[in-house]
Amino acid sequence: MGGLLATKPITTILSESHETGEHSLRRALGPTNLISLGIGAIIGTGIFVITGTATALHAGPAVILSFIFAAIGCVFAGLCYAEFSSMIPVAGSAYTYGYATLGEIFAWIIGWDLVLEYAFGAATVASGWSGYFISLLGDFGIKLPASIAGTHWDEFLYYNNHWENAARIVPKLKTLGIDPATLPHAHGVFNLLGFLAISGCTLILVIGIKESANFNNVIVAIKVAVLLVFLGIGGTYLLAHRELMAANWHPFIPPNEGFGQYGISGVLRASGIIFFAYIGFDAVSTAAQEARNPARDMPIGILGSLVICTVLYILVAGVLTGLVNYRALNVPDPLAIGIDSTGVRWGGLLVKVGALMGLTSTIVVMLLGQSRVFFSMSRDGLLPALFSAVHPRFRTPWISTLTVGLFVAVLAAALPIDVLTEMVSIGTLLAFVIVCAGVWILRRRSPALERPFKTPLVPLVPILGILISLTMMLSLTEVTWIRLFVWLVIGMAIYFGYSRAHSKVQRAA
Ligand code: ALA
Repeated sequence: MGGLLATKPITTILSESHETGEHSLRRALGPTNLISLGIGAIIGTGIFVITGTATALHAGPAVILSFIFAAIGCVFAGLCYAEFSSMIPVAGSAYTYGYATLGEIFAWIIGWDLVLEYAFGAATVASGWSGYFISLLGDFGIKLPASIAGTHWDEFLYYNNHWENAARIVPKLKTLGIDPATLPHAHGVFNLLGFLAISGCTLILVIGIKESANFNNVIVAIKVAVLLVFLGIGGTYLLAHRELMAANWHPFIPPNEGFGQYGISGVLRASGIIFFAYIGFDAVSTAAQEARNPARDMPIGILGSLVICTVLYILVAGVLTGLVNYRALNVPDPLAIGIDSTGVRWGGLLVKVGALMGLTSTIVVMLLGQSRVFFSMSRDGLLPALFSAVHPRFRTPWISTLTVGLFVAVLAAALPIDVLTEMVSIGTLLAFVIVCAGVWILRRRSPALERPFKTPLVPLVPILGILISLTMMLSLTEVTWIRLFVWLVIGMAIYFGYSRAHSKVQRAA
């Protein structure tokens, strides 16, 4: 049993992280790149798509409170990530923090759990990306055959001489008085665009961390600009039409219609859903081994990106619910509906471009995170050595990146990824709980360790981080919990079948 709880000494972790040379990762990232990496991962489907459903079905205008509640949980977790990542700046992030504090079996569970966040997260986002891209192509008259436009679980309807995704077209058909059942139906086979999106991002990541960061910087600038334009247009319109805002914000918290539907329980349920919008700031910590000065810059990257996105999200939610009645927001492109309502015609196009950019950089950072976590697990012997091979010229973990990329591309192309969005949230929240607990445990166990950044008010902040994350986990559906359990059981089988026997920490003991 002792072996299962073996911890990896922090001194060993630190000396490994200081390795240099062609077999080590390149230290190329400064504070601006790290903040941009965080924003790159954070702003994506959450704000561009999921906000609509959470507002319309669960919280109403009080989705602003849901955004604030989720942000508070994230800030507490972010403060804990900041302490760990400046103290133990390694690519393994939560996995390595777990190894240093809770022991090998917990480290494995976190590493395996992070696959849900990063690999499944990237696949989920890629499927959203393909939906937006197909819709943008459609605006320019280019239509794809149903077989390559989605997975087997996506349904298409033949309308206006081409195949349209049923989920997107049905609301329009209803307003036109057309019964969707009267149109020809088909199912997708292989989501080609999702596959290509993941493949393209994988190649950029193989070529180099600096190149990936530069690519990310450009995209981040565009997607933040899109949100600022939305705020500018919407905010100006609302200032001139204050009565509209007063009407749409009344009642601010719509009366409860059952658990999770409006009222306080609806606000909580919406916070569990839109929590997805914040996922990604923690991915900055997986780039710690590629940061020039991690002790100073990790907290800046993690907390800076989180604070910037929190402010943007709360403002966007406020303007959106002021512009449009919440009940009209259950659509795939809520921000476009918001801009359209101001009379500006190009809102739809703007939002599509913003969303596409947003989703691309989210994919890049999630894939980066996943390959770095596998890199660390492989260095520790828990995964085969191939995963920690560093390319001598590009200085990236290229085999890990390519393997992860292929796996995720197939997931995105063939699986009903939409269903798995909640899995991404539950997996991430579990990692947050463990990281918060880890900070507290290590403070008690090794109070004298050098901590370049200290989480304030320990143990209060970690405890609140744990409680808020658990509350959001509990607001997710039962089937998500069952899937999480099944996933962890598969992980245990791999651990006892392979990793335990190959663990370097166990062999050294
Ligand atoms: N936060 C990321 C998104 O919203 C995962 O797409």
